[in-house]
Amino acid sequence: MDKELLTQEVLRLKAERQAVILAHSYQLPEVQEVADFVGDSLGLAREAQRTRAKVIVFAGVHFMAETAAILNPDKTVLLPDLEAGCSLADSIRPEDVLAWKEAHPEGIVVAYVNTKAEVKALADVCVTSANAVEVVSRLPEDRSIFFVPDMFLGAHVARVTGRKLDLFPGECHVHAGIREEHIQALLEAHPGAEFMIHPECGCGSSCLYLKPDAKMLSTEGMVRHAKRSEAKEFVVATEVGILYRLAKEAPGKTFIPVKPEAVCEYMKKITLEKVYLSLREMRHVVRVPEEVALRARRALEAMVAVG
Ligand code: 13P
Ligand code: SF4
Repeated sequence: MDKELLTQEVLRLKAERQAVILAHSYQLPEVQEVADFVGDSLGLAREAQRTRAKVIVFAGVHFMAETAAILNPDKTVLLPDLEAGCSLADSIRPEDVLAWKEAHPEGIVVAYVNTKAEVKALADVCVTSANAVEVVSRLPEDRSIFFVPDMFLGAHVARVTGRKLDLFPGECHVHAGIREEHIQALLEAHPGAEFMIHPECGCGSSCLYLKPDAKMLSTEGMVRHAKRSEAKEFVVATEVGILYRLAKEAPGKTFIPVKPEAVCEYMKKITLEKVYLSLREMRHVVRVPEEVALRARRALEAMVAVG
């Protein structure tokens, strides 16, 4: 089937199944185009919580579909390819969190949403890249805090909030590979450009030395900032799937990726054909055992309630 026919079929099946398609900003352009909502992890979690659709097709990675399933126990959540995982979510095991909790019985565990449900179930609160600073800054000052699993996001949050955080040494292989050597020459070649960095990037702190007014933003934050800013050029440090959204939503502006080969192969597992098959065959259903979901839901709801 060609792309146009596939698109039509997806839209037809979506209506027939009373489904909604939620897509992350790193998804392929043709997948973003059939989605009802495209956003960052926080926007997607909120949208999953408020949708009235019976079926949620999640065009993103497994932890995002799990989050939607946790927030919507009575809805069917489909992930078009179960191999759409996340190296960051895979970097931490529940045992890692349990060991810290044993050593810090009064401590607070803050879990980035890029974690499996079993890890979220051990957390007190979840965060995304869009709200981590705000959530952490509201935590009681007299308690130890374990921030898992992304050490670069954790270091950024610690720097901005001034809070001391115990960081788990996890990273995303795509963002950890974005380093200052990819950036310096670009910033010099485009002195008028604004610099937007995803806080998972390995260059996090050092980039701020290169350009102290750089903006640390979630993917949605980047789109919002690019639309509002007076600047015409932007140097962008994150997975390159965001460039399609940026060009579409901030037309007439130029976006320069610091690393064009920064591609998340997990995100790209979701093709238009797999979205079509997912709706046609009602596959693959993502379920979280209720005893895990119940505890993970508390941590997610504590996050969604902020801001
Ligand atoms: P955002 O929540 O900023 O979209 O990031 C999610 C993600 O997986 C980044 O790699
Ligand atoms: Fe996970 Fe990194 Fe891919 Fe985001 S870009 S889904 S953090 S592997």
